[in-house]
Amino acid sequence: MTIEIRDGTVDDLEDHAKLREQGYALDPRGRRSWMESYRSAGLAERMLGAYEKGRLIGRLSIMPFGQFFGGRPVPAGGIGAVVVAPEYRSRGIGTALLDASVKRMRDRGEVVSPLGPATMWVYRKCGWEIAGDQSVRVVPTVDLDRLDFGPYHERPATERDHDAIRKLYINAALARPGMLARPAWMWDEHLRAEPHRYVYVVEDKGRLVGYAVYKQVKDRGPTGYSLLLEDLAAESWDAESVLWRHLGAHQAQAREVRVHGLPLDALALHLPEQRIRIIWDHRWMLRVIDAPRAIAARGYPLGLTLSVPLTLDDPRGSWHSGHWVLDVHDGKGELGRGTGGGPTISITGLAALYSGYASARTLFAAGLLGEATAEQIAVLDAAFSGPRPAMNDDF
Ligand SMILES: CC(C)(COP(=O)(O)OP(=O)(O)OC[C@H]1O[C@@H](n2cnc3c(N)ncnc32)[C@H](O)[C@@H]1OP(=O)(O)O)[C@@H](O)C(=O)NCCC(=O)NCCS
Repeated sequence: MTIEIRDGTVDDLEDHAKLREQGYALDPRGRRSWMESYRSAGLAERMLGAYEKGRLIGRLSIMPFGQFFGGRPVPAGGIGAVVVAPEYRSRGIGTALLDASVKRMRDRGEVVSPLGPATMWVYRKCGWEIAGDQSVRVVPTVDLDRLDFGPYHERPATERDHDAIRKLYINAALARPGMLARPAWMWDEHLRAEPHRYVYVVEDKGRLVGYAVYKQVKDRGPTGYSLLLEDLAAESWDAESVLWRHLGAHQAQAREVRVHGLPLDALALHLPEQRIRIIWDHRWMLRVIDAPRAIAARGYPLGLTLSVPLTLDDPRGSWHSGHWVLDVHDGKGELGRGTGGGPTISITGLAALYSGYASARTLFAAGLLGEATAEQIAVLDAAFSGPRPAMNDDF
């Protein structure tokens, strides 16, 4: 079997769309709009296809965007819709596509790569590791309806609010590792007018201080609907609580709000009972594509100065393997070639450490970080730990 892997063009969109539909049992009636969204976002050229005798038998997409780590947007290539035709599975085609994607991203300067995995083995084999939370949680509307009325009153958003909404999101995302620096096409999807999708904003003296995007989904039989919270960001609890109360006001029709990926830390400190439930326990994965540039691109705690030798093991990335020295000072990081000694870390362990998902202590316990002293473990934790990484985008 001779497999050719090549970049996509707009002429390949329909073949990719059909394979994607087969991979996820998607409704073909969505094909035209998927193709149009890819064409208009310039994503057709970001597809990779595996061909045998001219027939498309495997595909994936590499979406260019940023991902916030340490308060800075890191150039990223998000892997989407990896599908191999069923009759060609377990023959190494998924692996070959992922290896090719790593090469493309490295050439283009996309230094990390997140993805939302339906299955993990093929990604872990190719260097991706669990790196942040993407669970779905539900919050009872009756509890939200009991929150105090804040000083504000929400109103429906108009298109004139969109710039301010984007700024509110970025301010919130800067403080949360893993959130995406969304390109225009992704924002278009978030804010596109759709039946039963609502965007509400909170204003303070003419300035937006909070927004929420949610859908009412009729999936609960003859009465009632489900509430799906897609996006929420606010500058203060006063602004955030108005938005949660707004969702609570749906309690006659919706028993719960379903929240995908968004952390609920502030809300949990105000709810009367511990009744947030995880209904889908899920994490996203990350690969470090170019370690020196990824280390230089993210931010670090101010006032921290450290230097640790590291030996990196990347069986599928020869450019990574060998000795390095990690230096952090004035909120900046540098990974330069070293001469040996210090802890050893696998490329998968580095992904989980880099995002802040796994502590160096956990990686040591899991065998992904070796030969580390207690001091080196503490120093690595000081550099990379922070708020729990999250992400509320699908791609
Ligand atoms: C996931 C998918 C893309 C993998 O593609 P593939 O071409 O079958 O993958 P590969 O043949 O490269 O397999 C990768 C490795 O995992 C191994 N593997 C396969 N199934 C496994 C399992 N259940 N557990 C552990 N390892 C497994 C393979 O043997 C291979 O390892 P090897 O090279 O050491 O033998 C393919 O199964 C698919 O299209 N699934 C449907 C769509 C989907 O869910 N995509 C994922 C979206 S995130």
